[in-house]
Amino acid sequence: MLIHTIAEVREQVKEWRKQGLSIGLVPTMGALHDGHKSLIEKSVEKCDKTVVSVFVNPIQFCPGEDLDKYPRTLEADEKLCNDAGVDIVFAPSPKEMYGEGHILSNDFLTYVIPPYFYTDKLCGKSRVGHFDGVCTVVNKLFNIVQPDFAFFGEKDRQQLIILKKMVKDLNIPIQIIPCPIVREESGLALSSRNKYLSENDKKEALVLSKILFNIKACYEKGIKDCKLLHETAFSYLNEHHSLEYLEFRDADDLEEKKIADKNTIVFIALKIGDVRLIDNIALENV
Ligand code: PAF
Repeated sequence: MLIHTIAEVREQVKEWRKQGLSIGLVPTMGALHDGHKSLIEKSVEKCDKTVVSVFVNPIQFCPGEDLDKYPRTLEADEKLCNDAGVDIVFAPSPKEMYGEGHILSNDFLTYVIPPYFYTDKLCGKSRVGHFDGVCTVVNKLFNIVQPDFAFFGEKDRQQLIILKKMVKDLNIPIQIIPCPIVREESGLALSSRNKYLSENDKKEALVLSKILFNIKACYEKGIKDCKLLHETAFSYLNEHHSLEYLEFRDADDLEEKKIADKNTIVFIALKIGDVRLIDNIALENV
């Protein structure tokens, strides 16, 4: 069922609650691919009812980013959701979410601001304010849907860590379920932004997973010094790649690691032409 208004979602959720049913929420910005599908399938399997939100959230885009050209494919998204057994596709307008005139500056809107220690690094460094926008919209979605479980992909690992922190700090009674990265056979992590890549760019984009897989292999052979592990990346890079960061950080609080251990995540962000891609890998599956 496709729903555009908050009131209708609330009405339906109230009905489910009366019947004692569990509810899963999969927040998305649409342009759904197999990565999203795996989150949706997990929710459908675990919960009595599943809500997928499809909302390109304007307040998490920084000036100059791809808000206007972000792929919008609601019809196809709805079909994927229906085929997967989703109960509600919630696709609100910006006006529905943020009100008349949708005034988005934090002079006029109450924001949820995650701690600076979590947001001044990795993607937060170049995307200032991005995680404020993410936490604010996810909080709103949590309040609208009031799910028992919410499903997020490990592909956006910094986002996942920040949202877990938000839920803990604000005592939000929702369990966050992390879902593994889905990759093409080539190793490329699925992302809605892969749609911007030409065939040739897609080949160049394999550099992200190659660097990460190689670092993990070196770690498994016994190299633990992050500086040495970092250096292994350079043989993969060429003039098509503009490396934004390659960092070793703690899986819980994003503290920088000098010596890699079982709780280390390797994060990478790199631009191919105008397209910014991110990926990450856990050095051990804990
Ligand atoms: O990961 C995303 O697609 C978005 O950041 C999210 C969580 C749906 C919030 O807009």
